[in-house]
Amino acid sequence: MITADLTGKHSLVTGGASGLGLATVRKFAEMGATVAMCDLDGDRVHESAAALADEGLDVFAAPTDLRDGERARATVVDAAERMGGLDHLVNIAGHPVTLAYMPPTDLDAQTEEFWDEVLSVNLLSAFRTSHAAAPYLKASGGAIVNCASMSGWRGGGSSSPYSVAKGAVITLTKELARGLAPEVRVNAISPSYVHPESTNFPLKWDTVFEDTKALPLGRPGTGEEYADACLFLCAGAGYITGQTIHVDGGWSA
Ligand SMILES: NC(=O)c1ccc[n+]([C@@H]2O[C@H](COP(=O)([O-])OP(=O)(O)OC[C@H]3O[C@@H](n4cnc5c(N)ncnc54)[C@H](O)[C@@H]3O)[C@@H](O)[C@H]2O)c1
Repeated sequence: MITADLTGKHSLVTGGASGLGLATVRKFAEMGATVAMCDLDGDRVHESAAALADEGLDVFAAPTDLRDGERARATVVDAAERMGGLDHLVNIAGHPVTLAYMPPTDLDAQTEEFWDEVLSVNLLSAFRTSHAAAPYLKASGGAIVNCASMSGWRGGGSSSPYSVAKGAVITLTKELARGLAPEVRVNAISPSYVHPESTNFPLKWDTVFEDTKALPLGRPGTGEEYADACLFLCAGAGYITGQTIHVDGGWSA
């Protein structure tokens, strides 16, 4: 576990209602930040925000649909204006879009609609929020952290479009790092298997726990371990930009 003093800082976390996003919201708020929790799941983001607020943490729900460009941008601007600025944008929202594994041999299943949806949720969402957040982050000298995946590095995700989207997040991170420098640092994290306390992510977690025994670290990661990496990239890492850290238990080693 790492710590940092985020007193007076303002953070926005997408996908903040559950899983890795919720773990990151908790971490940043426990370090003293005010945190806006963006999520598609309106009920869940309000419930999660209320539970954290009951613990005395300074968070608020910002329900939105990041597939909708105008709404995504308005949500970021509204949250930043409400907080009086923005220091950290952590883009975690994402979804495989299919509940069943789609093998790369099945090209027929990869319809135009499926590609559009996967790219919108997993790739363009991060561009939309970054675009809207850029003026605020430039003013504060802030940081962006995107969420890729080990499938974006090597392929082999829930579908080919998902792997492509996550691979493109790694490239988007490099492009934004160049585009927003020197004021804003932009990095990404590629998880292999991370099992936060609460997750909606449609993985067969029983199988994951069995399979990850073969990793050098012998288990899936925890939400806090993911959040620690986000905290490092936002609050430290002053000379690191355009990079993707593998939070993968040694999967790629
Ligand atoms: N958990 C893992 O092992 C793992 C591995 C590789 C990559 N990832 C990536 O990590 C991220 C988070 O995964 P998780 O395990 O926490 O899953 P999760 O499903 O618990 O959390 C994802 C959150 O994103 C939100 N979301 C989805 N579509 C949205 C939209 N259009 N607008 C706003 N919010 C939206 C969901 O409502 C959900 O709360 C995802 O980007 C996922 O692709 C996770």
